[in-house]
Amino acid sequence: MTSVAAGSALRRSAGIIGAVFSVALCSLPVHGNPPGYAIASAHPLATQAGVEVLEAGGNAFDAAIAITAALAVVEPSGSGLGGGGFYLLHDAQSGRKLFLDAREVAPLAATRDMFLDVEGRVQQDKLRAHPLAAGIPGIPAALGHLDTRYGRLGLKRDLAPALRYAREGFPVDHKLAGYISRRGDDLRQYPASAKIFLPAGKALTEGAVLRQPALADTLERIAVFGAAGFYQGKTAERLVRAVQAAGGIWVAQDLAGYKVKERNPVILDYQGWQVVTAPPPSSGGLVLGMMFNMLSAAELQSLGPVRDKHVRIEAMRRAYFDRARFMGDDDFVEVHSRGLLSPAYAKAWRQSIDLGRASASADFELPPPPAAGDGRNTTHFSVIDAEGNRVAATLSINYMLGSAFVARETGVLLNNEMDDFVAKPGVANAYGLVGGAANAIAPGKRMLSSMTPTFVESADKLAILGTPGGSRIISMVFHAIESVIAGASAEEVVSKPRYHHQYLPDEVQFEPEGLTAFEQNWLRNHGHTLKPLGYRYGNFQAVIWDLKNRQLSAASDPRGLGSAVVGPQSKAAAN
Ligand code: DON
Repeated sequence: MTSVAAGSALRRSAGIIGAVFSVALCSLPVHGNPPGYAIASAHPLATQAGVEVLEAGGNAFDAAIAITAALAVVEPSGSGLGGGGFYLLHDAQSGRKLFLDAREVAPLAATRDMFLDVEGRVQQDKLRAHPLAAGIPGIPAALGHLDTRYGRLGLKRDLAPALRYAREGFPVDHKLAGYISRRGDDLRQYPASAKIFLPAGKALTEGAVLRQPALADTLERIAVFGAAGFYQGKTAERLVRAVQAAGGIWVAQDLAGYKVKERNPVILDYQGWQVVTAPPPSSGGLVLGMMFNMLSAAELQSLGPVRDKHVRIEAMRRAYFDRARFMGDDDFVEVHSRGLLSPAYAKAWRQSIDLGRASASADFELPPPPAAGDGRNTTHFSVIDAEGNRVAATLSINYMLGSAFVARETGVLLNNEMDDFVAKPGVANAYGLVGGAANAIAPGKRMLSSMTPTFVESADKLAILGTPGGSRIISMVFHAIESVIAGASAEEVVSKPRYHHQYLPDEVQFEPEGLTAFEQNWLRNHGHTLKPLGYRYGNFQAVIWDLKNRQLSAASDPRGLGSAVVGPQSKAAAN
């Protein structure tokens, strides 16, 4: 039986956040030192940046700085200085685990209905390709925080690879070329964006060398002044001026006042394994915990492979429903975490699952959304160093290439994360997610996220997990946790075919091979609506440390272009 205990759900802002969740029945496994280091990230140059600082004597936190900054340069479609993210950290020396929340916040001038026109309709263009869509970025603050609290080498050393990639350039890969071409019209609207991604009016193609001198200058200011090099002075002035000139609402105080928050992670127990994962403002930990609680019921064990999938889909439907109803930034709203994770609540939900029939999401309460888009961006990396320090980080500018708006003279591409708020109750966002008041826009509030960086641990094994993929992130992490528990290798964890349900739309989405023909027939005959996606999704990055066999492994999702490395590669680093 899963055991979960939640602390007080409502905490108010500022500084280090008090205990959110505690473990009820299991204690934290203690591990020694791994036989080396391992990194998996979504781009070979980002992985290489991590290797470079680890081999230079840095720790996993230095590597996290180097990889974050490198991804901002070489994978600008997924994350960047103009975005936000979550870092799950394990500090080996103290044994402390913490969740560094660098999520964007709504600007001070934001209002609940800011995306509605006079007739109350959502202005989708303003949510997708406009500086109004941009929350106040958190990544530069995370770089500064990681450096001052946890890193060893200093920002100049850690940012060196990214600076090099930005100044000297790197070859554009086919995925980035595709994203630039798809967002061409949006990028063209903004001269600073067009200059970078559509030089001479033409979208960059695969193999073209992309140099970003303005972004390099911004990175250099961060290397010299830390986070202040972004949130104050020249960079901040330029960001505010550019955003306001294009119709946005940022003011200097938005940037000067941005703060990362250290939160306690959600800690869950599933099948005797400890799962350390994302608290609000991510929905990931709560959705996972609710699913674990429902699925741990004795009557849902050993049902056979098809019914196993059926009950997992039904658990997803229910947990995502509660995501829509209750979840948001719990510095602003009561999320009811304790109640959502209580065994009594799980029992009630479980009893509503018919083992031989799909439930109908329409019988629940919220209106159906229009057709949803697909999450194809955001990024994740997983790192462990030879001392056992660990980082799982999922970073985002939301949609591919974010708001498509680059602020002049900064090279910084801004996010469109405001779309993760509920612009209007019942109206779906880019990922088909609906919600209500808990996730309404308010100044300084963080928009609800699905990003779920996660550790899974037993006394013998630990895994560092995560992926992009919008609303499907949580179900992907769920599948990965179950794979790790079942003994899968890192390669198997990242490759495994996927299926997903998110309450609305009321359909089981699945990759080619995500469900066998037999499973599809069974599910259809038992009331499920199936939606074969016809493509594969996600970009999972996994590191696994098998303590029993003293083996480290890492794998990057074959769906993406990333790379995984296990070191040390040099003698110096090995000594
Ligand atoms: O925070 C979130 O949940 C989204 N902004 C993540 C977006 C994402 O993963 C895009 N897709 N691949």
